[in-house]
Amino acid sequence: MAQAQAQAKIGLPNDLEPYWMPFTANRAFKKRPRLVVGAKDMHYITSDGRRLIDGSAGLWCTNAGHNRVPIVEAIQREAATLDYAPAFQFSHPKAFELASRVAALAPGDLDHVFFCNSGSEAVDTALKIALAYHNVRGNGSRVRLIGRERGYHGVGFGGIAVGGIVNNRKQFGALFAGVDHLQMTYNREKQAFTIGEPEWGAHLADDLDRLVALHDASTIAAVIVEPVAASTGVLPPPKGYLERLRAICDKHGILLIFDEVITGFGRMGYAFAAERYGVIPDMITFAKGVTSGSVPMGGVLVRKGIYDAFMKGPEHVIELFHGYTYSAHPLACAAGLATLDLYREEGLFERGSSARASWKLRGRKLRWR
Ligand SMILES: Cc1ncc(COP(=O)(O)O)c(C=O)c1O
Repeated sequence: MAQAQAQAKIGLPNDLEPYWMPFTANRAFKKRPRLVVGAKDMHYITSDGRRLIDGSAGLWCTNAGHNRVPIVEAIQREAATLDYAPAFQFSHPKAFELASRVAALAPGDLDHVFFCNSGSEAVDTALKIALAYHNVRGNGSRVRLIGRERGYHGVGFGGIAVGGIVNNRKQFGALFAGVDHLQMTYNREKQAFTIGEPEWGAHLADDLDRLVALHDASTIAAVIVEPVAASTGVLPPPKGYLERLRAICDKHGILLIFDEVITGFGRMGYAFAAERYGVIPDMITFAKGVTSGSVPMGGVLVRKGIYDAFMKGPEHVIELFHGYTYSAHPLACAAGLATLDLYREEGLFERGSSARASWKLRGRKLRWR
């Protein structure tokens, strides 16, 4: 009977209805589905056999291209060796190896890595670490979180609260209290047709001083920004803006978080935009490119001083009550290690950097057409 039921299940038509697709106009899609069934390097293969150039690298995530053999093989090997290891009170060697490798790529003393499974989880994790950091240091009144207009920080409650994209917020109630937003950095009149980082706009970082005057620094835990905004339309930071934001955060003891879920792992021609701009935040969130999109993974890079602040008190007590069943999943770690090898062996970050000049030129030509 059970077997007959199982077979009946297998015999079900492959209906489009049950799958509620994310960020998609479901009814329109299901009338004219766009399905990809394979991928290799920079191409997708569609269900009707066409090859499509994947100009956006998936959702900005397949930084090394699709179905790269070393990554595929690493995942296959790991699946056959250690399909899962408990993330709490147990671990496996590749988790430590990948954390060391990611930390070695990061600038400054961003020496510690907390793993999760997506950019949204990375953002929520970073916000929680910020709140808990102030708490463990006896500054429990620092509970406010500051984002920026037009910012995208994923779709967790923390991420949409600090995020500034209206459609991602408006259906979901009051979110959480104590969040405020910096002014966006884009001004069409002053910045249109800028090549690279706009000259105008560094002073917009001073908006943080306005929020400090409004709320008092003693109530503010952290500021989170994308160093280059991406989901809202690509907005490089005005020259000097990130430096100024760093200085204001330092002045007031506010943590600065760079959300590098998109800008990490080569997209800026460096491992992280923090290095590209010479500004070291207190935390960096990452995801996507860490496995070149092959297995879901995210994480937060944390400066040594923040990690150390938690490593006090009795050693048998859990320092941070946070984590995910799939934190540092073995398949993700194997994929991450193979991906980082590939980036290094093929010099992909450097190649990204050297392509910058010619892309700038081509972008300008588009304007002239
Ligand atoms: C800057 C930034 N943060 C967070 C996220 C959320 O990542 P995910 O979709 O993996 O949850 C994204 C996704 O594009 C992003 O661009």
